[in-house]
Amino acid sequence: MVPSFRAFVVAFCAFSSLASALLPITIDGNMFVDSNGDPFVVVGVDYQPGGSSGYSNSASSDVLSDEDVCLRDAYLLQKLGVNTIRTYTVSPWLNHDACMSVLNAVGIYLILDVNSPLGGESIQRDDPANSYNEGYLKRVFSIVDAFMGYPNLLGFFAGNEVVNDATSASVSPPYIRAVQRDIKNYIALHANRTIPVGYSAADDNSLRVAGWEYFQCDSDEESLQISRSDFYGLNSYQWCSGRDDFQTSGYGVLETTFANSSIPLFFSEFGCNVIQPRTFTEINGGVYTESMLQVFDGGLVYEYSEEDNSYGLVKIASDGSATLKQDYVNLQAAYANMTYKSFVSKSFIDTSGSSNCNATYIESIDSSFNASFSLPDCPAEAMLKSGSGNNNIGKWIALNSTQTTYKIYDLNDQEISNTEITVVSDQTQPESESSVTSSAVPSATSAATTTSGFGNTSLSTTASASTSATSSSAATAALVGAAGPLVLALAGLLGITLVL
Ligand SMILES: *[C@@H]1O[C@H](CO)[C@@H](O)[C@H](O)[C@H]1NC(C)=O
Ligand SMILES: *[C@@H]1O[C@H](CO)[C@@H](O)[C@H](O)[C@H]1NC(C)=O
Ligand SMILES: *[C@@H]1O[C@H](CO)[C@@H](O)[C@H](O)[C@H]1NC(C)=O
Ligand SMILES: *[C@@H]1O[C@H](CO)[C@@H](O)[C@H](O)[C@H]1NC(C)=O
Ligand SMILES: *[C@@H]1O[C@H](CO)[C@@H](O)[C@H](O)[C@H]1NC(C)=O
Ligand SMILES: *[C@@H]1O[C@H](CO)[C@@H](O)[C@H](O)[C@H]1NC(C)=O
Ligand SMILES: *[C@@H]1O[C@H](CO)[C@@H](O)[C@H](O)[C@H]1NC(C)=O
Repeated sequence: MVPSFRAFVVAFCAFSSLASALLPITIDGNMFVDSNGDPFVVVGVDYQPGGSSGYSNSASSDVLSDEDVCLRDAYLLQKLGVNTIRTYTVSPWLNHDACMSVLNAVGIYLILDVNSPLGGESIQRDDPANSYNEGYLKRVFSIVDAFMGYPNLLGFFAGNEVVNDATSASVSPPYIRAVQRDIKNYIALHANRTIPVGYSAADDNSLRVAGWEYFQCDSDEESLQISRSDFYGLNSYQWCSGRDDFQTSGYGVLETTFANSSIPLFFSEFGCNVIQPRTFTEINGGVYTESMLQVFDGGLVYEYSEEDNSYGLVKIASDGSATLKQDYVNLQAAYANMTYKSFVSKSFIDTSGSSNCNATYIESIDSSFNASFSLPDCPAEAMLKSGSGNNNIGKWIALNSTQTTYKIYDLNDQEISNTEITVVSDQTQPESESSVTSSAVPSATSAATTTSGFGNTSLSTTASASTSATSSSAATAALVGAAGPLVLALAGLLGITLVL
């Protein structure tokens, strides 16, 4: 273990001037894949400081609009070792360029919910017909406009736990498919790339299985096929660390039940906190084991910041300072022990596809589930074609700073002195080889182009991946998590065999 970590450090530092922008994640069969076509495993946390009450339509800020706050949290997220965050609510009218660029700089992707808790900004689970209207879709399409320009946007959640009991199950599923259809049509017309769109299911044993079958199934009709989920998230609090193991948690059942999914599945929320502090035994005993990763493509721990329900990893004070909780330290240690990079390979990708939609079969899984494939028409066809009117189209920008002005405290309330982020990705799109500005290691450069698939990556001399940040295995893991393919490619160039 230790020698291979050293190998990583050596490999990384030798090329510390090399940084490339994050490239969009796409989908191949049941997995997210990176630009090389290799599986991308979600190692992430849910991120909504302030909780749902922290958002209002007239607010001058949201959780991804303040560069200084994002620098603070990017530092902590990078040290934690994540490659993805999920955010539930943002404003389509605010500028997110700095925060999305900071996230890119530290190698983090965003999965974004399009809805908000405010009236008119989500589908009402028990009365979908009256909430699925033009005003609602204006909000949704405006969110797509605001975020489609960021290559590190991994995907959109069209809905979160809309189906959560028998009543909502009996009316809302066709509306969720309809919203997915509208978002995917909007992306096809207005965005420059395909952006995955999916659904996040509540922790209910039979409804989530019915929902998965309903949202993943295939149709020969193009207008129905486009309404399918590109990915499916499970919010699951079944495994309580300190209490459960693979079998008592029900993970064994999950693994069997969801085997052979035709779309990527992952835990969109996990991390039961019945026993505190959490020790996150489900990381290395469950989510990131070889057998689970054949079925679930990683997950997102709930949640970054401490709110009323005590799921936080970090406490944020009213002066904007952040203090680690024991949960943060425990999760960081668990992430540092992950070994999935040594065994996850292209062979985990299953492209065998799914079965045709069969309402009778789906309703046999849960009789309350409305598996009608007769979807409501889009109530805003004209706006879908012409655009939402939101001119706030996001794009990456150069960072003003790599250092937050907020104070960050460790477990013992000692201020952490160096809280600068380590830049592992620059903000430029991949360019042609003529833009290579450093040829310190020419043979490696050309090899990188062919071996790693980081073709046409510019070698930037401005990137500042610092060497000091690699001094602990946790920090190394953070780098590996953030820039895995890059590091793997570089290690490959140096003939280093990686055994993590
Ligand atoms: C899409 O590409 C066009 C043409 O290159 C460009 O003008 C536009 O800004 C791009 N839009 C986004 C959202 O990146
Ligand atoms: C299924 O949902 C659709 C859309 O809400 C509704 O029109 C239909 O009546 C529902 N079917 C049943 C059996 O409730
Ligand atoms: C998954 O596919 C394998 C191989 O086709 C099959 O043996 C197994 O029964 C399937 N599992 C489920 C839960 O459908
Ligand atoms: C990490 O792995 C080591 C060695 O197997 C083990 O002793 C330690 O308890 C593990 N830590 C966590 C947090 O999983
Ligand atoms: C649909 O599912 C039902 C119940 O499982 C099954 O009896 C029927 O044969 C299926 N229909 C088709 C066309 O496969
Ligand atoms: C970052 O730089 C831009 C352009 O110089 C400036 O408009 C903006 O206010 C700066 N932001 C911060 C947080 O300093
Ligand atoms: C890289 O750039 C070259 C020359 O500009 C171009 O021919 C080639 O298609 C590019 N490769 C990729 C993968 O973009």
